[in-house]
Amino acid sequence: MNTALPIAIIGTGIAGLSAAQTLHAAGHSVQLFDKSRGSGGRMASKRSDAGALDLGAQYFTARDRRFVDVVQDWQTRGWVAQWSPSLYNSHDGTLGASPDEQVRWVGSPRMSAITRAMLGALPVTFDCRITEVFRGEQHWQLVDANGNSHGPFSHVIVAAPAPQASALLSSAPKLAAAAASVAMDPTWAVALAFSTPLQTPVEGCFVRGGPLDWLARNRSKPGRDSQLDTWVLHATSQWTKQHLDLSKETVIEQLLGAFAELIGCTVLAPTLSLAHRWLYARPASAHQWGVLADADLGIYACGDWCLSGRVEGAWLSGHEAARRLLDHLQ
Ligand code: FAD
Ligand code: NAI
Repeated sequence: MNTALPIAIIGTGIAGLSAAQTLHAAGHSVQLFDKSRGSGGRMASKRSDAGALDLGAQYFTARDRRFVDVVQDWQTRGWVAQWSPSLYNSHDGTLGASPDEQVRWVGSPRMSAITRAMLGALPVTFDCRITEVFRGEQHWQLVDANGNSHGPFSHVIVAAPAPQASALLSSAPKLAAAAASVAMDPTWAVALAFSTPLQTPVEGCFVRGGPLDWLARNRSKPGRDSQLDTWVLHATSQWTKQHLDLSKETVIEQLLGAFAELIGCTVLAPTLSLAHRWLYARPASAHQWGVLADADLGIYACGDWCLSGRVEGAWLSGHEAARRLLDHLQ
């Protein structure tokens, strides 16, 4: 394998960027690709008239020592801050305070700030959906949806959600089959902005019973300076699956209705409302693979679906992919 060539990384979510940073720190050149217009994947934030809204990951926890250390470094650099919301839970319509001691982190001033900072000046091609990954005699080559070729590369790391990854792993059928076996559940997300703040102390709420799973007062997160009272609602996987093809307007109407019923104060019409459907929001079941690797071929797959289905798991999986690749080179 020609290690002077760059390493291709498909996906600029936290897993792809974790791998990229580890490889870059070890002196390797990387080239990142993402089908979206910016980095972050499911940690992206949506710019709106009400400021940036975290529509995907809401916050994250750090339990593994390696991730705890990294998050502390991010805090020192000002990329993340602790979020200590006034927490509630709602069980079958009964709302109650549910404070706890858990440390929760958010990107500052928006969730996407973390991946934006991790990306730094690393070479990246956005708006580029990779459709084919194949190996020639000596090296790897990629093809995108417009038929353009990219390469040569010494190795490839696929850091996309499992259903998207499996299509890119055909050179390594065992890896492709493992990725294809991971079902991922969808989540409808709705963001709302109110010109008059809602008269409630709730800043975050875990919900059981009904269409909602979680709601958060986006403006209560550190660094968010919206003039409006902004909220993000997430539907349960079950409700989302049952209402996958509803129009965005109907999803907003139904989740706003459930929110108004749950929150226990007057909810006037929002000045802004938007909906986003995450098709591959979370793995339906957890795995402990860490990473999928065919080290002899030089292809790796990582992402939250290889571990806990959370931000921490995604970061750890990307880091492990890079470590496995580096170990194989020694
Ligand atoms: P992703 O972030 O999905 O990144 C994959 C990237 O690959 C994307 O940018 C995508 O555009 C790109 N890509 C895919 N296919 C291709 C292709 N063919 N060519 C080029 N690029 C491609 N986790 C928590 O810890 N706490 C939470 O509160 C939390 N809440 C969540 C709420 C929602 C609604 C969702 C959707 C997720 C939530 N998560 C949460 C999960 C967390 O966001 C993910 O675990 C984590 O962000 C996954 O990172 P990743 O890098 O593995 O994948
Ligand atoms: P965590 O420790 O805060 O929460 C884990 C789970 O514990 C929660 O889902 C909730 O059920 C329960 N919980 C925690 N604190 C609670 C409290 N004070 N009161 C009542 N219940 C409480 O965070 P962790 O482990 O980092 O999990 C991340 C979160 O991300 C989870 O809530 C998970 O559901 C969510 N997530 C959502 C996805 C989606 O698509 N909507 C995808 C992936 C993760």
